[in-house]
Order: sequence, then structure tokens, then C-alpha cells
Amino acid sequence: MKRILIVGAGGQIGSELTSLLRKLYGNSNVVAADMRECKDLGADGPFVVLNALDAQTFGYVVNKYRIDTIFNLVALLSAVGEKDPQLAWNINMGALMNSLDVARQYECRLFTPSSIGAFGPESPKEQTPQDTIMRPLTIYGVCKVTGELLSDYYYHRYGVDTRSVRFPGIVSNVTLPGGGTTDYAVEIYYEAVRDGRFTCPIPADVYMDMMYMPDALNACVQLMEADPTRLRHRNAFNVTAMSFTPEIIADEICKHIPAFEMDYRIDPLKESIARSWPNALDDHCAREEWGWNPKWTLGDMTEDMLYVVGKKCERGEY
Ligand code: SER
Repeated sequence: MKRILIVGAGGQIGSELTSLLRKLYGNSNVVAADMRECKDLGADGPFVVLNALDAQTFGYVVNKYRIDTIFNLVALLSAVGEKDPQLAWNINMGALMNSLDVARQYECRLFTPSSIGAFGPESPKEQTPQDTIMRPLTIYGVCKVTGELLSDYYYHRYGVDTRSVRFPGIVSNVTLPGGGTTDYAVEIYYEAVRDGRFTCPIPADVYMDMMYMPDALNACVQLMEADPTRLRHRNAFNVTAMSFTPEIIADEICKHIPAFEMDYRIDPLKESIARSWPNALDDHCAREEWGWNPKWTLGDMTEDMLYVVGKKCERGEY
């Protein structure tokens, strides 16, 4: 990776990935792109307004900046996708198709995240294997499975260097996620700090895989820098760092804020999505093929989140 384009850079992963890659590869070598103007992303490196569905401008930007690696982070997430499945398909698949074609045309590597949402109720729930049945029930999941297949197709058919991971819920203290089923695991920290209480949309006993943002960013860099001869899989690797239920994360928060209280107002859509996803992924292929080794546990993450979100609250930023 020398000259990098991040499409969808204004989102949860994109904004932090832009900062990290600029530190690692040099500010001027990392171009951030989003549909909307994002002042912060333009402060220390190039920023372009780019609608990923506009193939012509996409190609123009890749050519102009001599890009060799594309991170396509454009997606409507699982819960919001169900509100308008046709729109979710058009955006998620449109951005992917353009990314694949531009990557083919300009010989770029391409990373497009997949998700735990690619699995469905028929997938084994515990230690969900790397290669197993995938019959998701959300449009988000359907797009992810299709995306995995298409990305592998472009690799085999055209030799495009496509690589991906199936991300779990990502917890971060910089940009809030939007429209996902795992969002509660971020919101809970903000509301614990601000109000000392949280109303949870996911039932107390539902396990989902999660990961702290620094590990998620490392996964992107590590996989894209991995020796291709070691990769038996490409699209996409299971990765996880922890798996917990709302009850478990609430207990962890109580260790720091003993008066923290949680009640439940179950969102039926989020419940049905969450129950259709794995409880915990088996990520040994990622560990073996490119050295995946997450650092953050639920305990460490909780301490860090409460500290950083606490500071944000003090400064009136939240
Ligand atoms: N965080 C995503 C969602 O909840 C899953 O990849 O939709």
C-alpha cells in the first residue's frame, strides 16, 4: 500500500482509518472521499467529495491520485437497510461493483468489509466456522454474501487483489455508528456516562461478536499488508475479539459506575436480526493466514471507553 483511497471515509470506520493510515503512510498518500464534505478529513490530507455510485468520477479520482489501494467502506447497515431494502441493495452493491471495476481498471488492491451479518439462522451459532452455510435474512447480509462472492470472482477471473474480513460490531469513541444492530454496544457507554442509565433494544441474553476500534483498524492494515501467498481465503475472513450479551456489558460498566442501571425496550427488528446472527465466530483462519491477534478485551475496552467518553462529556462534546 502506497497511495490509498478511502471511500465512505466519513463513516464510523472510515474517519479513524483515515487518521491511522495517514500516520502510517504519510498524510498526502491517503485520500479520504465521502459523499458529503467532511472538514476534519480534509484538515491534514487530501479530501474529495465522491459519490461511490458515480463510476466515472470514481475512476477519475483513482487515476488522478495514482491510487494503488482502495478501502470501500460504503454501506447501509443491517437495521436501517430493512427500512428500504431496494435502496440498501443499490447503495451497497453499486459502491462495490464500481470499486471492483475501478480496481480492475487501475490495478488496485481492494478491501470491502463483510460482516457477521453475512451469517443467518442456519449457520452454526457457536464457534461459527470460516466456511459454513450462509443464508442471511437481512438485505444487508444478502449484500455482504453477494459481495464476498463477487470479490472472490474478481480475484479469480481478473486477478484483482481483493481481501476482506467479516467484522463484528465495532465499538468506538470517535464516530457513532448508525443503523446497525450492534450499535447498542456503543450507545450504552455514552448513556452510562451522561445519564447513568441505558434502555437497551436487544434482549439481555443475546450474544453477538464485538471488537474495539483499534483492533478493527489493525485488521484492515494487517490483512492488506499480508503476504498473498499465505492467504488461502480472501473474501472474507472471520475476525472477532470478544462476544457478550447486554447483561454482560452492563455488569462490566457497573464495575466502574456502580449505580448504572439498565432496562429494556426491545426493538423487534433488531431482536430478530441479532438472534439470526452467530453468538461467537471461530477466527482461526485469520490467525493462521495473516497473524490476526486482537489485543482488546471487554474489560480493557470498557475502561478506555468510559474514560474517553467521560472526557468528551466534560468538554461538552456529547
Ligand atoms: N455492525 C453491523 C450492524 O449491526 C454489523 O456488521 O449492522
